[in-house]
Amino acid sequence: MLQIFPDAFSIADYVSGTLIEKIASKPDAVLGLATGGTMEPVYARFVEKARRLDLDVSRLTSFNLDEYVGLSADHPKSYAAYMRQHLFQHLAFDSSRLHLPDGLAPDLQQHSREYSARVQQCGGIELQLLGVGGNGHIGFNEPGTPFESPCHVVELSERTRRDNSRFFEDNATVPASAVTMGMYEIMMAREVVLVATGESKAEIVARWYESDVTEAIPFTILKRHARAKILIDEAAASLLPERVRQSLLAAPAPVAA
Ligand code: GLP
Repeated sequence: MLQIFPDAFSIADYVSGTLIEKIASKPDAVLGLATGGTMEPVYARFVEKARRLDLDVSRLTSFNLDEYVGLSADHPKSYAAYMRQHLFQHLAFDSSRLHLPDGLAPDLQQHSREYSARVQQCGGIELQLLGVGGNGHIGFNEPGTPFESPCHVVELSERTRRDNSRFFEDNATVPASAVTMGMYEIMMAREVVLVATGESKAEIVARWYESDVTEAIPFTILKRHARAKILIDEAAASLLPERVRQSLLAAPAPVAA
């Protein structure tokens, strides 16, 4: 399930190709979308290809993984704003089919239950994109999150707030909590593609490789998913055992659409 690519661009090329193929064969697909720096080149490449192919995205449904509590969809640092900036504003999506948790919902517990129910009503997620936090979180499911948890409100760890402070003015302005799709919805997705790029992910990728499935490293759960891929670049692979790196690097490169 682990594949090494030369760099972030070649992963973006491959993942955007996977998305294009999925949408071309099923224009009303339900996608699970992720945010973060890792996804920026993926969306940029996808937009480029979709425009070139005049791909119809108007029937797609999407569910984003997470949103910060306390930020409105208009807030420039919200994940809603991120999605508009990097993906939604560039193609003719039907905005009524694009879902993100609402960080301002008056009753966040109730909102989490409704978000989870909405995913199920739409038939569950067919293809879930994931990045990974430096501590192994997926969505905002922090280390220690029970594997069966559905969409919920989470208090962000100091590590996550520090890592994400690069998107804010300083650490103090990073929201303290978020609403995230749970490990349950992620594992129910029919197919999962996790991307990890850059040296800052090398340590957690090596821990993932060495570790059994454990709630202490949330993305180890993907080892139990029948159709999950972990795509990493050479920088993120740099702390893997040498023999593993060599054998994966020798594998034929996957072909991008
Ligand atoms: C954030 C998001 C995650 C994302 C992760 C990695 O905290 N909630 O969904 O995968 O961080 O982000 P980046 O790609 O910027 O390293």
